[in-house]
Amino acid sequence: MNHPSSISLTVFSLLLLISHNGAAEDITLETCRKSAESSPNLNYTSCVNSLQSDPRSSTANLQQLGIISMELSLRNATYINSYIKKLLNDRDLDDFSRIEKYLRDCSELYGDAISNIEEAIKAFDAYDSFSANIKMSAAMDSSTTCEDGFKDNNSNQNYSAVSPLVREDYDFFQLTAVSLAITNLVRHSILLSM
Ligand SMILES: *[C@@H]1O[C@H](CO)[C@@H](O)[C@H](O)[C@H]1NC(C)=O
Ligand SMILES: *[C@@H]1O[C@H](CO)[C@@H](O)[C@H](O)[C@H]1NC(C)=O
Ligand SMILES: *[C@@H]1O[C@H](CO)[C@@H](O)[C@H](O)[C@H]1NC(C)=O
Ligand SMILES: *[C@@H]1O[C@H](CO)[C@@H](O)[C@H](O)[C@H]1NC(C)=O
Repeated sequence: MNHPSSISLTVFSLLLLISHNGAAEDITLETCRKSAESSPNLNYTSCVNSLQSDPRSSTANLQQLGIISMELSLRNATYINSYIKKLLNDRDLDDFSRIEKYLRDCSELYGDAISNIEEAIKAFDAYDSFSANIKMSAAMDSSTTCEDGFKDNNSNQNYSAVSPLVREDYDFFQLTAVSLAITNLVRHSILLSM
């Protein structure tokens, strides 16, 4: 540390968070606080709830929390994709003929999200937070693009369809927002320390 400034203090504490190897300190709340500060759309409560749902979080360092968060996103995307397939087989579903097309688009989007998260995990595991960030960002877009589909009025239809995936899209968005924020925290600490 050659720069005795507040920036280097931040770097120092972030590096501590990264290198600190479990044992004592639980950095979950601190990480969710920083993540919510850096991303206005990130819900602090749902960040804490999701990370704490994995018992490994209480002893994880920032790098490990990032992986945990990506694994939660992956599990969620896998669940949502099978939920969408179930909906697609339910022709009695309200408005089925109207929403079928949107559901098919969403299924493809969550399929893409699954591969993007798998690649993000590989990248982050290899300490490539830059690529992990890009892949998680693409995964996050699947939820918003899926949701936007239902609002898309086409010429012979007068109103947008009600999305049966509002809850799922929101949950997935939140999970990916946490992964994304953690890749940013790691990325910034690396950039600042160069
Ligand atoms: C944030 O998440 C919590 C827990 O999931 C939920 O109760 C709350 O409504 C959410 N807040 C917003 C602004 O959506
Ligand atoms: C998906 O994420 C939400 C929000 O964290 C959670 O409530 C839900 O249980 C998750 N589902 C799966 C299958 O991971
Ligand atoms: C759309 O629906 C509204 C309300 O049902 C109706 O007043 C309007 O004429 C419709 N517009 C078109 C273009 O069908
Ligand atoms: C679709 O139509 C509804 C009802 O007319 C309107 O409220 C909504 O803003 C439209 N959405 C888009 C994306 O144009």
